[in-house]
Amino acid sequence: MEIIICKTKEEASRKAADLVAALLKAKPTAVLGLATGSTPVPMYQALAKDCAAGKISFKKAKSWNLDEYLGLPPTHDQSYRYFMDKNLFDHIDIVKKNTHVLNGLAKDWRKEVKSYEAAIKKAGGIDLQVLGIGSDGHIAFNEPGSSLTSRTRIVSLTPQTIKDNARFFKKAADVPKQALSMGVGSIMEAKRIVLLAFGANKADAVKGAVEGGVAEEVLRLARRGGVEGGACVRSACPAPCRGPQVTSPRACGSP
Ligand code: F6R
Repeated sequence: MEIIICKTKEEASRKAADLVAALLKAKPTAVLGLATGSTPVPMYQALAKDCAAGKISFKKAKSWNLDEYLGLPPTHDQSYRYFMDKNLFDHIDIVKKNTHVLNGLAKDWRKEVKSYEAAIKKAGGIDLQVLGIGSDGHIAFNEPGSSLTSRTRIVSLTPQTIKDNARFFKKAADVPKQALSMGVGSIMEAKRIVLLAFGANKADAVKGAVEGGVAEEVLRLARRGGVEGGACVRSACPAPCRGPQVTSPRACGSP
């Protein structure tokens, strides 16, 4: 694992964008795992700039997103498909049919999550997963306490998450109560993970991810072979370590 502490989120986002750019240059057919939320937006802007300048191309790349609200059509301005189109896909040369977001309107969610995971596997697995982290430590819609071996599935949003998200909807009753989300186990299969975290409100979550008990648990599972791809969130992890990278300007006390 490598922890990169930056002074500004722009600097951290540039570094993260450079990792994606380097991957695309080395492997134009790269499989990307993408996240929504405010955190990756400056990184997406940096990538769109690189693409417009002809420095990188997503033409042969494929992407899979972490999660989607259940019940929202892709045209809804709070759906994650809409978010991805507006914040990244509409500004780069990726082929839209190669971008995948879970279908929040799927009649049979079991079928949907199964085919989603199968498609990732068929594409060769995720080469680089971009992650944000919630202030309570959630990753995708996996709240703290989610099983470390959880797969893509239906999840119920916690009352806190529903409350937090209410600001994006006209009225509280409009906030979806459920979502489809990749599981912790599915995410950990990525060959490389870049986790970005900005701001003082994420410091505890980053500290917990880097130093907390869950890290120990993940390591134990990895040693037992319970987590494919290995997940090292401790500096003492055995090489080669392909664990998450944390880019956080605040996590270690910097301004
Ligand atoms: C979104 C996702 C979420 C966010 C998290 C942080 O796809 O996976 O777990 O990463 O809620 O959100 P922001 O970036 O808005 O602080």
